[in-house]
Amino acid sequence: MIRKPEIRTYPSLEDLSRAAADYICETAEEAIKERNIFTLVLSGGSTPRLLYEELASQPISPRIDWQRTHLFWGDERFLPPDHPDSNFALAFKSLISKVDLPPSNINRILTESRSAHAAAEAYEETLRHFFRPPAGSEEDMNFPSFDLVLLGLGRDGHTASLFPGDAALEETYRWVVAVDGATASPPVPRITLTLPVLNQADCVVFLVSGSRKKGVFEEILNNPATAAYPAARVRPSGRLLWFIDELLV
Ligand code: 6PG
Repeated sequence: MIRKPEIRTYPSLEDLSRAAADYICETAEEAIKERNIFTLVLSGGSTPRLLYEELASQPISPRIDWQRTHLFWGDERFLPPDHPDSNFALAFKSLISKVDLPPSNINRILTESRSAHAAAEAYEETLRHFFRPPAGSEEDMNFPSFDLVLLGLGRDGHTASLFPGDAALEETYRWVVAVDGATASPPVPRITLTLPVLNQADCVVFLVSGSRKKGVFEEILNNPATAAYPAARVRPSGRLLWFIDELLV
């Protein structure tokens, strides 16, 4: 059963970032109370920087049990982890370097691999190991279910590194794939989670700010079934929330 998305609108990117940080904190508290672990998938681009800074600051940071919080990435550019365009570099500078997160809780996409395809295969192995069913269980792991997946929205309707018309959109088995990223900015190869993984999440939160994305956002919201945009195909069985600013309404 696909639930209706919940739209939360704020006056500014600062306000939506603060609200999203509070929501993530509440979700973390619930997940850790229920299962002693919180799995959070970070998004890239520029929008989430303020959110990450909020998560690393008072009053939010002390409320999050960082020892039981595990970070993952929804996508990554095939660049060194300290490159200014690296999604990991953004998270490291604005969040990871400021909180007491055990290094083993950081599940980075290893872009030192020999190719984006090798990095994607390695990341899938990392995820399959992390989410492996208990020894001896009959459970057959189709796709992992993250507690919360953060996503952004590109002006062309892409999300993570799932771009319009790309074959990656039709992937139904792999958890992680490489895309050539030629139409992206920066135009470098990418590694991305696939739609089945995004749609297996317990909660997906889109963060969208700026009038340039108004048209795409409205189309996705008003015509989710027909909108050709990749972001319109993120329809998790769990919760779907859009944290947006007033420039989109
Ligand atoms: C990436 C992101 C991508 C991003 C959108 C929005 O690696 O580029 O994961 O999906 O979320 O392109 O980017 P902005 O926040 O910079 O507008």
